[in-house]
Amino acid sequence: MDLNDTITHDHHPLVPLKGFYLINGTHDPEDVDQIHNLEIRDSDVFVVTYPKSGTIWMQQILLLLEAKGDVTAISKLCNLSNADLIPWIEVKGNREAFISAPSPRLRVTHLQYRFLPPTLSQKKGKVIYVARNPKDVLVSYFYFHKVANMLETPKSFDDFFEKFLRGEVFGSSWFEHVKTWYAHRDEMNLLFITYEEMIQDLRLAVRRIALFLGKELTDEQLDSVVTHSTFSNMRKIPQASYEQVSGALLSHHLGKFMRKGTVGDWKNHFTVAQNERFDRVFLQEMKDFPLSFIWDNK
Ligand code: A3P
Repeated sequence: MDLNDTITHDHHPLVPLKGFYLINGTHDPEDVDQIHNLEIRDSDVFVVTYPKSGTIWMQQILLLLEAKGDVTAISKLCNLSNADLIPWIEVKGNREAFISAPSPRLRVTHLQYRFLPPTLSQKKGKVIYVARNPKDVLVSYFYFHKVANMLETPKSFDDFFEKFLRGEVFGSSWFEHVKTWYAHRDEMNLLFITYEEMIQDLRLAVRRIALFLGKELTDEQLDSVVTHSTFSNMRKIPQASYEQVSGALLSHHLGKFMRKGTVGDWKNHFTVAQNERFDRVFLQEMKDFPLSFIWDNK
């Protein structure tokens, strides 16, 4: 598919860069195209996600791990939100800021592998890839499109369902995203973790992340990280739950960024026919993928 053909007019919410959809206004394609030239430090950490896979959850966990579970240390950072402290590298202005930022530079990104610096593949820096059942991603993304003013409000769930499968959303195809990152896993310092594993056993997930980042925490410190990164507790923290984000960007009255935080919500939304169609696409797209996911056969 030639993306330039499918989206033609200037004011469309999406803008393509080398076959990958970005958000018009939020991202500057020329700037994003320069990200792969960035110099990586050993202490850099990138959390990589397809949108709606638990990015802000990971922002909270990483900040808490940096602070060794000391929430007062984070609250002393004035009114800075988690997105200010662990920003998206691809958002306008953030590439430039990254260059001179002090270590450790913790960043999140929704970009595909090929846009990130190739030095990551020489085991410089660290990458945490979070994957989530794409059926739940689709549902979460559908609701997010209603809230996010920079994205197109879906005409209907059915319409969005098809758009998602065609990859006509910011982040493009979920399948491409996970496949391309996973294909390079052995070249990088990469931790692959799923949203579902984090839901199943958050403490274990936090311990794995701490170990991967070389953070030594006492049991009490670890407990504090876990306690302050549960769904219900994060929802109470405006910096962490995105309640602070400007009303110009998110229409908070239309829904919450931290919407439901559960596994399997797709069952409340997909028709039987949609589920069968999704399974067929999934099987076709992922037939050579070496890993079976925790959500398979559920
Ligand atoms: P839902 O819409 O299914 O509730 P992202 O940060 O990548 O945009 O992902 C957002 C999704 O992660 C939302 O999913 C949100 O509720 C969920 N999420 C964020 N923090 C979470 C937490 N602490 N526990 C469980 N889910 C969380």
